[in-house]
Amino acid sequence: MMKHAFAAAALLLCAGPAFADERPSQAVIDAYLAATFGKAPPEWQARIKPDETLAVCNTTRNNPSSAESDAILKRESARVSYPADGKFLGDWKKGYQVANNGRGGQFSDPPNTVSGGNCFACHQLDPKEVSYGTLGPSLAAYGKDRKYDPETIKDAYTKIYNSMAVVPCSNMPRFGVNKVLDEQQIKDVMAYLFDPESPVNK
Ligand code: HEC
Repeated sequence: MMKHAFAAAALLLCAGPAFADERPSQAVIDAYLAATFGKAPPEWQARIKPDETLAVCNTTRNNPSSAESDAILKRESARVSYPADGKFLGDWKKGYQVANNGRGGQFSDPPNTVSGGNCFACHQLDPKEVSYGTLGPSLAAYGKDRKYDPETIKDAYTKIYNSMAVVPCSNMPRFGVNKVLDEQQIKDVMAYLFDPESPVNK
């Protein structure tokens, strides 16, 4: 009994605040990630390597300096590709499917799996939907509240295409840049946010 009590006390002393602050070195994290990708096909291996922006977010633990933030915004803005036809809004009904689909992007997926945007995982959208995440802000009445303003529509497209062109080290996926969603899917989910007929705006 005594022995156990001493051991527990010793453990508590060791596991003080210094321990809580400790973080494995980047090399340990990289090696761990590489190991988890062991079974992935070769064409997936390149995805372990973070791009320039993500590397900065990783090493600063999502706290880039103001100079680094400026560089990220500039670099990521240059990667946004806007629709050639100048139209930002597609079909809101298809956009609902995009928002509500969390499939895709895993090497265990059957071939030709259409990826979704999984927006509901982080956002409220249609206020009638009972299940949604709260990591991101509520997007209920998004278009209506912004009076369907054309500039805001363009900004939202930018955000969805490349979240880090708007917020450096954003937790939101970079859907267009990382080819999770194609242009038509982004237009459709945009319509889900901005079409006055969409349940998001009802
Ligand atoms: C992993 C969580 C996550 C997912 C998935 C996600 N988002 Fe986000 N989103 C966020 C966070 C966090 C923010 C706010 C902070 C930021 O901008 O980085 C945000 C911000 C936004 C904004 C800007 C809101 C404002 O303040 O005006 C829009 C628009 C948006 N998201 C749309 C979408 C759409 C559409 C999808 C699906 C295609 C989506 N998000 C998927 C996390 C997510």
